[in-house]
Amino acid sequence: MAFNSLFITFEGIDGCGKSTQLLKAKRFFTENGYDVVETREPGGSMIGRHLRALLLEEGAKIQRSEVLLFMLDRSEHVRQVIEPALQQGKVVLCDRYIDSTLAYQHDFSFELLDTLNQFATGGLKPDLTFYFDLPLETAISRRRSRPESDKIESRPHSYMENVLARYTKVCLREPQRIKVIPAHHPIEEVTKMMEVHLRGSIASSP
Ligand code: TYD
Repeated sequence: MAFNSLFITFEGIDGCGKSTQLLKAKRFFTENGYDVVETREPGGSMIGRHLRALLLEEGAKIQRSEVLLFMLDRSEHVRQVIEPALQQGKVVLCDRYIDSTLAYQHDFSFELLDTLNQFATGGLKPDLTFYFDLPLETAISRRRSRPESDKIESRPHSYMENVLARYTKVCLREPQRIKVIPAHHPIEEVTKMMEVHLRGSIASSP
């Protein structure tokens, strides 16, 4: 059976549970007979894997350079991975995309970042985006209980508060595309809330 493609992105601060929910979404689509591609930013393409190491380990010293590296990663990712999969009628599930830049690179205006995102992606927007909404304190205590990761704590609290504030604005700009899921509930409940929208996306897919 041939299906129509779907492009779904997962957003939220570190520790919000989006990667776990992406795997749940993958299972949902696979069980419904869809061919699923699971990917992420930064690092979803060949060049992107080098950029990911550069961005996350070294960090760009200049904020403008950092934005441009995310855009380079995105441009490669869209053309090498996302678009080919969509053309084959697959479901693409992507951990972070354009909205992460709007939230994390919050020193720059929406206007500038929209233009750069448009240029990098050729205008490709997700059919559906999940924003997993979690208070900062909850995210921090979740991450503390995981010994392998203290990335969020290495960033100043004020930076992360700005990220959350930007995400809130991003969600308000496009309520049709971006579904806000309260992420402080147990994993199974969050999955149920997400699946309501996933079923909707299958039903409305022509
Ligand atoms: P990652 O290890 O993938 O963390 P997470 O599990 O939280 O997604 O790291 C990605 C980091 O890169 C994360 O802190 C957010 C940041 N980022 C940006 O600052 N801008 C962007 O455009 C993207 C895609 C990610």
